[in-house]
Amino acid sequence: MASSEVKTSTSTAHLTLSNKTIELPVLQGSLGPEAIDVSKLYSQTGMFTYDPGFTSTASTESAITYIDGDNGVLLHRGYPIEQLAERSSFVDICYLLLNGTLPTQAEKGDFFQRITRHTMVHDQVNRFFTGFRRDAHPMAIMVASVGALSAFYHDSTDITDPEQRLLASIRMIAKMPTLAAMAHKYSVGQPFVYPQNGLDYASNFLRMCFAVPAEEYRVSPVFSKALDRILMLHADHEQNASTSTVRLAGSSGANPFACIAAGIACLWGPAHGGANEAALKMLEEIGTPDRIPLFIEKAKDKNDPFRLMGFGHRVYKNYDPRARIMQQTAHEVLNALGASDDPLLEVARELEHAALKDGYFIEKKLYPNVDFYSGITLRAMGFPTSMFTVLFAVARTAGWVAQWNEMIKDPKQKIGRPRQLYVGEPARTLPLS
Ligand code: CMC
Repeated sequence: MASSEVKTSTSTAHLTLSNKTIELPVLQGSLGPEAIDVSKLYSQTGMFTYDPGFTSTASTESAITYIDGDNGVLLHRGYPIEQLAERSSFVDICYLLLNGTLPTQAEKGDFFQRITRHTMVHDQVNRFFTGFRRDAHPMAIMVASVGALSAFYHDSTDITDPEQRLLASIRMIAKMPTLAAMAHKYSVGQPFVYPQNGLDYASNFLRMCFAVPAEEYRVSPVFSKALDRILMLHADHEQNASTSTVRLAGSSGANPFACIAAGIACLWGPAHGGANEAALKMLEEIGTPDRIPLFIEKAKDKNDPFRLMGFGHRVYKNYDPRARIMQQTAHEVLNALGASDDPLLEVARELEHAALKDGYFIEKKLYPNVDFYSGITLRAMGFPTSMFTVLFAVARTAGWVAQWNEMIKDPKQKIGRPRQLYVGEPARTLPLS
């Protein structure tokens, strides 16, 4: 349990206000910076803390993921992402995030078996899909269809029952690829392809996205490995915007399907999960390496809202460790396709090179993040740009359900209810008329 890891530090913070000084406990986690406990601040002083964007605020204790942004470190349950990406699979990571340990062979078999029991969606969901316009963005379909699962699976919405919580979590890990593939198939006007439970998680997803009834479909092992790795790299990232959204939605006791739908909605934004789609569009817009200086200047111009997509991160002030693995995966996929001279890869490499030696990016510690190379890889595998963030959502479901479960089990859990610094009109009286 996360709470057993937290110790009160020997140091104390002192806050001096005009008329008094108060002591604030300092908390120590197992790794990372200490945190000043301000939970009693309001009752002691009548004042709030003010921290837009939560840049200095730890919203929760968590034992799932640790990031050291200055040194480019990402650990899941203590294991470095580089080792996990090399030696495990996405399903292992789902198990690890949920349970805290990597599965034994037997546990892995059982867990995968449980997932495969739930890969199909209620047949009525097919009808639900046909209500959408064919040109609907697949993220719009995902927000709606995952939220709608709560209307289909009533036996897993009682959040006080641990068995139901696990069942809902397994259902979402299992059904997310099915719904994502259906969103894709619907947009291209092809029939839905049912899951094939004899395949591994990534291969099954590829098949549901790209097989057609008229032909046999063989899953490329290179693509399957690459997709599994992409899923692993995106599985969890501590208290990012969408995960915090899932926790905030869950803190009111909302059902898990509704909470994950809220997370998907948040992930859609271009500053978060939408960045992989935006990064590829940007590379296409740049088009050729000779136009890179122009775009670098645009990104540096304070009066231009343009940013280099796939660059910068709230937490990483160093190379995102996932970006290195993603870059290698991009090469593997493009080599397998005989397309290692993809002009966009060339633009990406040169843009990275130019930005990393530019004073602006050095000074602001802006490095490529995981989304910089993922778009090129996914495009090479045949995914349309609009599906990129959907793939991120499939992967992040692992983290969302793990974090949601951790939150529900936490005895200190309360409804999330931030306060504000009111800057509107003071109390006034309606004019008599
Ligand atoms: N291009 C140009 N300038 C940038 C960029 C960028 N990509 N990112 C940050 N900056 C500048 C920004 O203008 C600001 O400058 P100043 O201090 O002069 O005002 C400074 O760097 C700090 O930026 P910030 O917006 O205050 O930092 P943040 O922590 O709030 O934002 C971010 C982090 C990821 C939203 C931002 O870097 C960004 O918009 N990046 C592009 C979008 C992107 O790639 N997002 C994917 C993030 S990784 C996947 C995920 O976790 O979802």
